[in-house]
Amino acid sequence: MCGIVGYIGKKDAENTLIEGLKRLEYRGYDSSGIALVQNKKMFSEKAIGKIINLEEKLSGKKFSGNVGICHTRWATHGKPTKENAHPHFSCDGDIAVVHNGIIENYQTLRDDLKKKGHKFLSETDSEVLPHLIEDFYKGDLREAVLKALKCVQGTYGIAVVSSKNPDEMIAARKGSPLVLGVGNGENFVASDVAAILGYTNQVVYLNDGEIARVASDDFQITDMDNQQIKCEINKIEWSLEESQKGGHEHFMLKEILEQPKVVVDSTRGRLLPDEGSVKLGGLEEVEEDLRKIEKIIIVACGTARYAGLVGEYMLEEYAEIPTEVEFASEFRYRKPIVDERTAIIAISQSGETADTLAAIREAKRKGALTLGIVNVVGSTIARETDAGVYNHAGPEIAVASTKAFTSQLTVLALITILLGRQRNMSLDTGKKIIEELEALPEKIEIILKNKVDIKKLSEKYSKYSDFMYLGRKYCFPLAEEGALKLKEISYIHSEGFPAGEMKHGSIALIDEDFPVVCVAPKDSVYEKNISNVEEIRARKGKIIILTTQGNKEAEKVADDIIYIPDALEMLTPILAVVPLQLFAYYVSSFRGLDVDKPRNLAKSVTVE
Ligand code: F6R
Repeated sequence: MCGIVGYIGKKDAENTLIEGLKRLEYRGYDSSGIALVQNKKMFSEKAIGKIINLEEKLSGKKFSGNVGICHTRWATHGKPTKENAHPHFSCDGDIAVVHNGIIENYQTLRDDLKKKGHKFLSETDSEVLPHLIEDFYKGDLREAVLKALKCVQGTYGIAVVSSKNPDEMIAARKGSPLVLGVGNGENFVASDVAAILGYTNQVVYLNDGEIARVASDDFQITDMDNQQIKCEINKIEWSLEESQKGGHEHFMLKEILEQPKVVVDSTRGRLLPDEGSVKLGGLEEVEEDLRKIEKIIIVACGTARYAGLVGEYMLEEYAEIPTEVEFASEFRYRKPIVDERTAIIAISQSGETADTLAAIREAKRKGALTLGIVNVVGSTIARETDAGVYNHAGPEIAVASTKAFTSQLTVLALITILLGRQRNMSLDTGKKIIEELEALPEKIEIILKNKVDIKKLSEKYSKYSDFMYLGRKYCFPLAEEGALKLKEISYIHSEGFPAGEMKHGSIALIDEDFPVVCVAPKDSVYEKNISNVEEIRARKGKIIILTTQGNKEAEKVADDIIYIPDALEMLTPILAVVPLQLFAYYVSSFRGLDVDKPRNLAKSVTVE
């Protein structure tokens, strides 16, 4: 959440910073700001709302600079006002700081600094940083930042510039992601590689507790004890084009349409059809440990957790390993029973979700083997887990997760095959799952070809203000995911739960104004689902059934039908989620909402 970009080089920093910031807008967008240094002077501008507002304010302004920092904010402490927007400044205005994360002891620090005469202009926790740095500043900016950070409790990813030190930019990280982009005669700092991909694909990931002094031609990284860190320059494989809209109206639609390719990319080079097994390079080192595990706990948040719930069914049915799925945000507050025979699987698109990261750290402390299913290469969860599998879904920019979910399900199927084949899964079963996985991309294409029908359906239903989503077994998590997709981008109240639960209370809500989406493919629980549909019909609820192509009998009980191709039961969610995503997308569009950047949300939740 929130985005940081910093630049130092020979170019005019403003355009580079604003372009980079726009690519981070999906991470938070309630206010933004920029600070530029030139001729030992500091210039700045801030605006409420989207980055375009900042751009408008900057147009016609006469200042420029070869070093600068900027920020797009997702409010935690303090309302989204101009005063609360970053950068924040020291009293003399010479030091500017942009900050992601939360300074937990900010109140104490603020009170102390106020006593020393510092004047605060915002309600934010972040503003203590420039004042603290100012307090320690004696000409060496890096040293002042280091001393300031030693006083701070909480999390931070920061970039700092000073008009008194115009040839450098300082960056530091603890708990909030930060990368250095290494260019030719120019260097960058960003909270997300997407911001700098247009300029360089060479990056250094800062680790927690590291601080960097960045100049245009070089950079040095040290730890908090001033020890030099030897760092590795990584090459980013994603292209700028992949992180842009490619002619589509919204990132979300582009990402939904990419899903056939995503399934191919997530399985590429990993299937061993003749052996009915898979090869997962990221798990090879721990393959022997995996043979010994007796329990799996999946930790994740939101959509990623729903993928985990599908994974629970897969792993228990096919790998025969008891599996639980935990809200990552609750994991460390319970007393989870975890030991060295437990594997924790963290599922996270961004690899930066604070709660998921905290769950992993807690599990490690207890001796569990930690594994990641992560999309963003080099992200914190990818680096902190013992081993893992990358999704290879490419950058996901729309706030509502779509293609990451299908890739998470695909990777979970691969892990199920691997663990199953280490245990009792037969060669034939392994072969069958692989064959079915290979058939998925074409089947997703079939669903996408019929998107016009889903668009029509969405228009019909876009006026309703409540929805219920139901499903059973492998498709129960899809009911939750379908409801989440709808509510987060259309702001329609929607709830999803196992179909059998409905009659234990929620059925009281049903009337002719309360449509119900029932995810009921022709699988082992189809008849049970239809019994629940009949109960809704008896209460005059509108019914949309999502079922398997050719299942004409569903037409008798539904107001509307969405068909998907037939698939192996455990893989059906990979197909069934696609119409649910399209439905939410079109409903949001018909309501005239900002699909890619829904209110109050941010792409990557790096605070607790
Ligand atoms: C919903 C959505 C969120 C994320 C959740 C976890 O569309 O995107 O629910 O799934 O915040 O994020 P990651 O996967 O980055 O850990």
